[in-house]
Amino acid sequence: MQTHYLIIGSGIAGLSVAVKLAEQFVDRKIVIVSKDKGEESNTNYAQGGIAVVIDRVKDNFEQHIKDTLTCGDGLCDKKVVESVVKNAPNQLQELISWGAQFDREENGTFDLAKEGGHSTNRVVHHKDETGKEIERAVLLEARLKKNIIFLEHHFAVDLMVKNNICLGASILNKKNKQQFVINAGFTILATGGVGQIYQTTTNSTVATGDGIAMAIRAKAKVCDMEFIQFHPTAFFSKSKPTFLISEAVRGFGAFLKNKNGYRFMFDYDSRGELASRDIVSRSIITEMYKTNAECVFLDATHLDKHSFQKHFPAIYKYCLQQGIDVFRNYIPVVPTQHYICGGITVDTNGQTSVLNLFACGECAHTGLHGANRLASNSLLEAVVYAQFIFNYLKEKELPDEHYTNVRFKVDRPKISETIMKINTADLNAMVQNNVGIVRNQKQLQNTLLQLKFWRNECNELLQRYQPTADFMEFYNKVIVAHEIVTASIKRTNNKGCFYKA
Ligand code: FAD
Ligand code: SIN
Repeated sequence: MQTHYLIIGSGIAGLSVAVKLAEQFVDRKIVIVSKDKGEESNTNYAQGGIAVVIDRVKDNFEQHIKDTLTCGDGLCDKKVVESVVKNAPNQLQELISWGAQFDREENGTFDLAKEGGHSTNRVVHHKDETGKEIERAVLLEARLKKNIIFLEHHFAVDLMVKNNICLGASILNKKNKQQFVINAGFTILATGGVGQIYQTTTNSTVATGDGIAMAIRAKAKVCDMEFIQFHPTAFFSKSKPTFLISEAVRGFGAFLKNKNGYRFMFDYDSRGELASRDIVSRSIITEMYKTNAECVFLDATHLDKHSFQKHFPAIYKYCLQQGIDVFRNYIPVVPTQHYICGGITVDTNGQTSVLNLFACGECAHTGLHGANRLASNSLLEAVVYAQFIFNYLKEKELPDEHYTNVRFKVDRPKISETIMKINTADLNAMVQNNVGIVRNQKQLQNTLLQLKFWRNECNELLQRYQPTADFMEFYNKVIVAHEIVTASIKRTNNKGCFYKA
């Protein structure tokens, strides 16, 4: 298959780039591949919303910039922060033009929520299901475009790179198990996060770090991989997946209490429950340790019933299903893996270090987040960088190279379940225990040895066999965990969400 633009991923990042390109170039072909059904993505689970400066009286760009820089703990790229924050209102308008709806006050202005690290209310949202609403709207917009070909349940295995120029990717059709190559003039990785390397995560099952691992194999640069963000308040449950209790619930006035009913956050930070995530997560685990408890609690019992149900219908319903009436009972919560701040290094046009290869969204490292992402800045980064990539590509001639016929070697037998011993549970347990909120150099070094072993084993198997999607996901998780652990070992100072005791 040949295409002008190949987009890997159908979350907010991939879809936004696709729709913009499809509108601009009606005679050019855009292929989106997505390894699950179109909507399955981290985007679909986003709750809180998008941070945008709307109220120019109580808020301004400088404050949003300052909050982002403070949260990033000295490692943000200030120019990137400024450009993202200033482009936010236009990108919000574009989402609205694509049909996404956001909650408004009776007078028509946006209902702005507050989240940790923000000095004021600036989070535009759709109840507590902002991501689902955005995904619905942008996916529909993409499906309506005649020049977008959507390949769902297609797994991108590897990038095709020659002389540091990306020529497309090899793709595995998960239904008929056939592997083929898509030659592309430009390839955009929009594959999202890495949460599934952990035992517990708020992330979608698709978040296995595939794009970052593919980029690493293609020798693209990655950076800041040690900065894994843990959300302070995931519903405490021994079963997967882990449901998020949005930070906006604390922004709405809920308190964090320990098992003795003590409201502890002011002992750690003057902003209390609304300190940035890194601080709240570390405070919670300290408090859990001090009180010998498996979790802490969110107390929403004093909040206005009607208003809470209106703002947080999904959270209210989920808690009820778990036997928690939030107006009578405290919600049990624990910090849980949520986001990767690092990723594939891109410039201000979203270009990676491999020519004609771009990265957008959670898999990319733009410099916006530094050592710790400010709440609700991720959806924002994805839409703004989708625009930056589009601005660049709109002016760029199509490369000749994409007509090169890259062949895929199909002479190897398929890897079978018996040959490949996928140790996902072991990998998850090891990463959960050794690459958490507080890390330890010795444990990291031991972890690295096992990861190196798995990485070599997978490498060798790939020389002899054709991979399955399950095998590639395991391999990708190993590669990504390897990078995170290596970067964690190297880091000598604690910053943002990275903490080594
Ligand atoms: P995703 O939305 O994760 O999409 C990735 C896509 O890539 C998927 O379509 C997937 O199938 C595809 N893919 C992956 N690997 C392959 C492969 N090998 N082959 C083919 N396709 C592949 N951020 C905010 O700003 N505000 C919030 O309120 C917020 N709330 C959140 C709540 C939760 C529970 C979670 C998990 C995250 C939240 N975030 C929030 C973070 C934010 O949602 C994500 O960072 C963002 O949506 C990522 O978008 P994306 O397009 O980069 O990736
Ligand atoms: C949340 O709603 O708490 C998640 C917000 C985010 O990850 O930015």
